[in-house]
Amino acid sequence: MSVPDHSSVQSHLAAFDAELAAAKSPRQAQTVRDKYLARKHGVVASWMQMIADASPEDKRSIGRLANELKQAIEARWAAFMERSVPDTAAAVTIDLTLPGRVPRLGHRHPLTLVRDRMEAIFTRMGFAIVEGPEIEDEWHCFDALNMPAEHPARDMQDTLYLSAPVPGDSGRADDVRTLLRTHTSSMQIRYMQAQTPPIRIVVPGRVYRRDDLDLTHTPMFTQMEGLAVGEGVSLADLKGTLVAFAHEMFSPTSRVRFRPSFFPYTEPSAEVDVSCWQCEGAGCAMCKGSGWLEIGGCGMVHPAVFEAVGYDAERYTGFAWGIGLERVAILRHQVGDIRLFFENDLRFLEQFPH
Ligand code: DAH
Repeated sequence: MSVPDHSSVQSHLAAFDAELAAAKSPRQAQTVRDKYLARKHGVVASWMQMIADASPEDKRSIGRLANELKQAIEARWAAFMERSVPDTAAAVTIDLTLPGRVPRLGHRHPLTLVRDRMEAIFTRMGFAIVEGPEIEDEWHCFDALNMPAEHPARDMQDTLYLSAPVPGDSGRADDVRTLLRTHTSSMQIRYMQAQTPPIRIVVPGRVYRRDDLDLTHTPMFTQMEGLAVGEGVSLADLKGTLVAFAHEMFSPTSRVRFRPSFFPYTEPSAEVDVSCWQCEGAGCAMCKGSGWLEIGGCGMVHPAVFEAVGYDAERYTGFAWGIGLERVAILRHQVGDIRLFFENDLRFLEQFPH
């Protein structure tokens, strides 16, 4: 190999540029680079090796030229690498300008939204939230609520009995028939058995009845029971509580109507209607022209219920209610079919604000 001179540097650089331009892949480009810069057999390395056998003045000139070539090629290689970044991205077909995938967010179920809201309202009023078993015995669901075996009111609710009896915990022999609770009222009994007054609780939960599916019935639905017991608790307290609830839940101008009714566990008993917030009571399609929407039942706790749990009925009074959550959700959001709450169709569920 002849001793390099300045023109050798120029011709190597020209060759390097041409070879790099011809490279068809990152790997080919790397091979071109290595031909000049590889530590063992690269052009620059072979020039360095010549230094050992060269004359003193050649040593200096070869060293300078080798360095010149090395730096020039490194600079060109660095520039090439910078230019080729987008090409590399294109080669693996990633389009960095595409919008990212938006992750699908979950929603709270409309019934959960109603329940959360009701719980917030009642907790602010001082009610504690408690839950109870969905599998109940007859005593807690009926007998203790003043509905003995032959009581006609037991027919009001078509009950789903379980075939496997589980001994109840009332201490009575005849409470072994087990069932799916037909209302959350059974939890009134459980709570009073375990606690002493004063009591202020709400009980949200699922209840079950032998109903066929239609626009307004499902064999499972949701209630929120309320119970307040103490000395001097009055009907006015019941009314005040439900009026305050309606104002917060529906509209500050909502009115509440108590329609005399019958439940064995309350006396007096009433159905609770809320003034229609669509027409403000004037009458419209939603309230079927009546101006009122029914949301549940309520009343003053019957003395027989206090006796069943061992409370002194002379000393204590109390009020109770049961509100249907689907009913509230249907009315709030104008849902035409109760079955929609249980079909898990995202097109329905995604319509509810978080
Ligand atoms: N348990 C009744 C039902 O399922 C609702 C109800 C009415 C609950 C009056 C009560 C009450 O606590 O006092 O339809």
